[in-house]
Amino acid sequence: MKTDMQVQLCGFQLTNPVIAASGTFGYGVEFEDIVDFRRIGGLVTKGISREPMAGNQAPRLIETAAGMINAIGLQNIGVEKFIADKLPSLRNYPGCAVIVNVFGDAIRDYVAVVTRLNDAEGIAACELNASCPNTKQGGIAFGSDVDMLFDLVSSVKSKSTRPLIVKLSPNVTSIATMAHTAQKAGADAISLVNTFLSLSIDVETRRPRLWNITGGLSGPAIKPIAVRMVWEASRAVTIPIIGLGGIATPEDAVEFLLAGATAVQVGTASYADPRATERIAQGLEQWCARHHFSRVADLTGALDLNLPEPPASGEPAS
Ligand SMILES: Cc1cc2nc3c(=O)[nH]c(=O)nc-3n(C[C@H](O)[C@H](O)[C@H](O)COP(=O)(O)O)c2cc1C
Repeated sequence: MKTDMQVQLCGFQLTNPVIAASGTFGYGVEFEDIVDFRRIGGLVTKGISREPMAGNQAPRLIETAAGMINAIGLQNIGVEKFIADKLPSLRNYPGCAVIVNVFGDAIRDYVAVVTRLNDAEGIAACELNASCPNTKQGGIAFGSDVDMLFDLVSSVKSKSTRPLIVKLSPNVTSIATMAHTAQKAGADAISLVNTFLSLSIDVETRRPRLWNITGGLSGPAIKPIAVRMVWEASRAVTIPIIGLGGIATPEDAVEFLLAGATAVQVGTASYADPRATERIAQGLEQWCARHHFSRVADLTGALDLNLPEPPASGEPAS
């Protein structure tokens, strides 16, 4: 049986639900000769700001148990150069949704970038980074304060001619509250999670291992927390959710879909295997066929909560 892999996101369709995540897939064009763009649902660019940014000093990336910590500092070429130099090649792959990740120092910067992108062709949606832990700019303040998140999303939404995906920070007490706030402010979809604020110390030197001191943890280490957050968010909103955090196999992607995601993104896995997004998309289709799903969309929120009866009293609970 062939599975229908198409999913409807927010006003546009994906050929399959597997998308390359922001910051781990360059501007997309770097992967043109490595990944078959017809086989992935879409790609999210590196975060784009109003002006070019140099990012943080090295060391900016370290490996850790089952993941990595980065403090790149949102290095990028700025919106004008992105539109002139990178976007034209991405228009060659109409089946692959191009999502531009946007961040700023203040609301007016986010609005300026999104407004500039309104005039550019070949973009399916913008993803607002309301959640980067590595710069003052990257939006973590927006992502952890309900009122600031509301103001950011409603201001950008009022100017955007394209669907708006809001990427939430996991560094919050209640992801359900933040997800609900983003929806109330006009978000067309939400993506979660970004990286977890973390610190790694070199005990020989007693110094932080990253120049920025703290960084963002990603990779398999965060997956169960991310799945839990997607599940909680899915119960708080009616807009589509894009789930991510540690996805490295097709089964990981299935977990996020069952928890309530409509689509998923693959980030850190691209460092170990640059073809990870394509491999996971293909593997997901095979998984669906093996499990007799005629539509991948039927997996969304299909978590079975009909739990077996608890053990009769007297039996050990664990
Ligand atoms: C090196 C690196 C750079 C990143 N840059 C961005 C970025 O510019 N904007 C953004 O929204 N997320 C960024 N992220 C976060 C990822 O898109 C993703 O949310 C996070 O890493 C969790 O997914 P993963 O475990 O699959 O990597 C970055 C992550 C890494 C590892």
